Amino acid sequence: MRNDIDKAVFSYTTSSVNSELEEENRILKETVEQLRNEVESYRAPALLVAEVAEVVTNGKKRQATIKVPNGNQFFVNVSSEASPISAGDTVLVEQKNLTVIDRVKSTKKFAVEQFVILEKPTVHWSDVGGLDEQAEELREVIELPLKKPELFKKVGITPPKGILLYGPPGTGKTLLAKAVAASTNSTFIEIVGSELVQKFIGEGAKLVKEIFQLAREKAPSIVFIDEIDALASKRIDMGTSGEREVQRTFMQLLAEIDGFKNLGNVKIIGCTNRRDILDEAIIRPGRLDRLIEVPNPTIDGLREIFKIHTRTMRLTKRLNIDLILRRMEGYSGAEVKAVCTEAGYFAIRAGRTTVREKDFLKAIEKVKRAEAHGGRDYLKMFG
Ligand SMILES: Nc1ncnc2c1ncn2[C@@H]1O[C@H](COP(=O)(O)OP(=O)(O)O)[C@@H](O)[C@H]1O
Ligand SMILES: [Mg+2]
Repeated sequence: MRNDIDKAVFSYTTSSVNSELEEENRILKETVEQLRNEVESYRAPALLVAEVAEVVTNGKKRQATIKVPNGNQFFVNVSSEASPISAGDTVLVEQKNLTVIDRVKSTKKFAVEQFVILEKPTVHWSDVGGLDEQAEELREVIELPLKKPELFKKVGITPPKGILLYGPPGTGKTLLAKAVAASTNSTFIEIVGSELVQKFIGEGAKLVKEIFQLAREKAPSIVFIDEIDALASKRIDMGTSGEREVQRTFMQLLAEIDGFKNLGNVKIIGCTNRRDILDEAIIRPGRLDRLIEVPNPTIDGLREIFKIHTRTMRLTKRLNIDLILRRMEGYSGAEVKAVCTEAGYFAIRAGRTTVREKDFLKAIEKVKRAEAHGGRDYLKMFG
């Protein structure tokens, strides 16, 4: 009897140990297999990326003319395992004999919407202070043609395709562009010149093309090109391949602007702090030929901007606004906004919810000091 029990326990434990060992063995085998595959992938030489110029099918045999990145063309074989390819496709090729291994699917179309800021702004004209003339001109060039196209037909003129806003940073150029997009219920497509040339090396021209395609799809729309001087600069002398690339992107931009037949529903607003280095080609008649200067505000402008940014603040009744404005002479709109935010912080630190004159005076000093330390970054915090 005793013996029987022992036997049963023994066989139970051995079978459970067995299956545990089997399981472990299986896991180890899988791990070895994975590691082997990985080592294999390290050994395999990298594949080149090329573009297909032409495909030739000869019975079952496929061959193609491909273009490698340095521009040279080759006539090569296509692996029988490759999926169907056609001219214009991006493909992976072996380094040695340039046999086409397969088509690259993901890069076929540039997902332009990932790279631009696309929005329907809600900025109202009343959010813009001290720029009445500039606002008026924007409305004439952008709002009027969109709202009353028949008027232009009757008079027999075509409205400008685009505008160039220029002036020091933080004066409300982006704000104006957003306000006109909002008032016309347009899609606002924002690209930044310096990003276009730095981030999208080799793709700038393609991206520009697709941005304008997107703009037409989403019309009415405004293509807003910030820091346009990064693309359209007369300082570029084409010495390096990077500069040639910038030039190509710029040429594509000009081609897009010139190529528009019916521009009614897509407008372009360029923006720069460096009017002095701008390539004149971009502002030639028929291109961004309305130049609008957006300078730092006058005292009256400061007053309006101050009013806008203190609209929602609780201010003490005893506030010498004239004194505050005088101390802010030479400040940009963005700096006035920063002063208001900082003044609010001084009140909070003092345990108050009402903002006093001394809070503003301290804030003015703080913003000025930040500025003296080269602190445009400080302003970026406040957008
Ligand atoms: N004229 C202005 N009126 C009201 N706010 C302004 C004005 N100019 C600048 N600002 C404030 O500063 C912020 C940054 O201004 P922005 O339009 O981006 O300047 P820019 O494009 O000229 O560099 C705006 O979002 C706004 O809050
Ligand atoms: Mg801006």
